[in-house]
Formats: sequence, C-alpha cells, structure tokens
Amino acid sequence: MVGLDVDRTMLTLAHEALEATSSAARVELVLGDMTEFDLDGTFDRIIIPFNGLWAIGGADAVARCLACARGHLEAGGVLLLDVYAIDDDGDYELQGGPDSADFELMATVVRGGVEVQVLERNALAPDATWIDVEYRFVWPDGRTLDDRMRHHFLPWPVLATLLFEAGFTDLAVAGDFDGARFDEASEIAVVSAR
Ligand SMILES: C[S@@+](CC[C@H](N)C(=O)[O-])C[C@H]1O[C@@H](n2cnc3c(N)ncnc32)[C@H](O)[C@@H]1O
Repeated sequence: MVGLDVDRTMLTLAHEALEATSSAARVELVLGDMTEFDLDGTFDRIIIPFNGLWAIGGADAVARCLACARGHLEAGGVLLLDVYAIDDDGDYELQGGPDSADFELMATVVRGGVEVQVLERNALAPDATWIDVEYRFVWPDGRTLDDRMRHHFLPWPVLATLLFEAGFTDLAVAGDFDGARFDEASEIAVVSAR
C-alpha cells in the first residue's frame, strides 16, 4: 500500500498515525505530486479522499491526476474519491458558509497533550470557480498560526467528463458514504470509477 502527498508534514502525520497501528509495515509513504506521479507497479484501488481533488489547482490538474491514476490501476481496479458538491448554480455547502467574514471554530485537536483550536473562514472567488479556505490555529497561551488552501471545485458533470476523458468507465456517484442518491441537495459526491 502506498500513500502519496506533496507535503512532508502531512506525510509525517501519516507516519505517526500509522505507527500506532499494525499496518505500518505494509504502507510506503511517498513524497510526490498527484498530478504527475510515477510509482512502481499498478494497484487494485486508488483512493483520493477528503476533497483532495479540489486542492490541486483546477480542471487541468485534475485531468492530469486522473490520467496518472488511470495509468496506475490494474485491469478491473477502482478509483474512489470524495469531494464536496456544488450544484449547477454554483451553490455549495462548506463549513462557515461560502463567504464567511469571521473565523468559526471547526475542531479542537490535541497535539503533544496540548489542545489547539482550529478555526476556518472562506472567501469565494468573484467568478465562483475557487474558494480560499483560511485556517487559524490557536494555542491555549494565545499563540496563533494562519494557513490557507485554495480549492478549485468542479460541478459533477465536469468531473464526470474529465473521468471519461481519462479513460474511466462504470462511473457511479452517491450523495453520501452510505450510497444515498446524489442530487442537487447533496453536500458531497462520493465517486467510484473503473
Ligand atoms: C484537503 S486535503 C485532503 C486530505 C488528505 N488527503 C487526508 O487524507 O487527510 C488535501 C491534501 O492534498 C495534498 N496536496 C495538495 N496538492 C497536492 C499535489 N499536487 N500532490 C499531492 N498532494 C497534494 C495536501 O498536502 C493535503 O494533504
């Protein structure tokens, strides 16, 4: 099993999480770009979880990523991914709303025994093709750290077209992880393709 990310810190966190399980020896963590990776061998399953496809820079990058994924799937293998959904009007559901002026508390995480608050706010592009998701981390002593990630999201018909163009067939989309019907009210799209 291989895990790939372009960010060393994410790989370190993955390594730490794996060390706490019995799976560590089975997993190779690779520093790499998911829009142009070239790994040894092919896989029966490739998973792009938690909006990862929206984090790589837009439709061209998604097309390159899907082509790489297709090339690394063995015959009959499956690609699985989940992304938050927008409807045809560009509406979508995000923590804090699409264009929230103020940071809202999203989670409290514990690192090294210290509780760190994670706040989020979002700024939508004027043409609604991307959103800047801003994070603020707040330590108990008041220290803060700000970070930002730009999400380029695509409507499902566009993503489906890119999947077909990358050579995938047998596309299926659900509105949640239990297989609910995907419709305009769905907050996420859970996609499988072969
Ligand atoms: C929204 S998070 C997805 C969740 C993450 N995969 C996880 O399982 O927790 C986006 C992730 O994509 C990574 N990323 C962004 N651009 C990338 C790229 N071009 N290649 C590989 N990873 C990338 C980020 O470092 C971040 O870990």
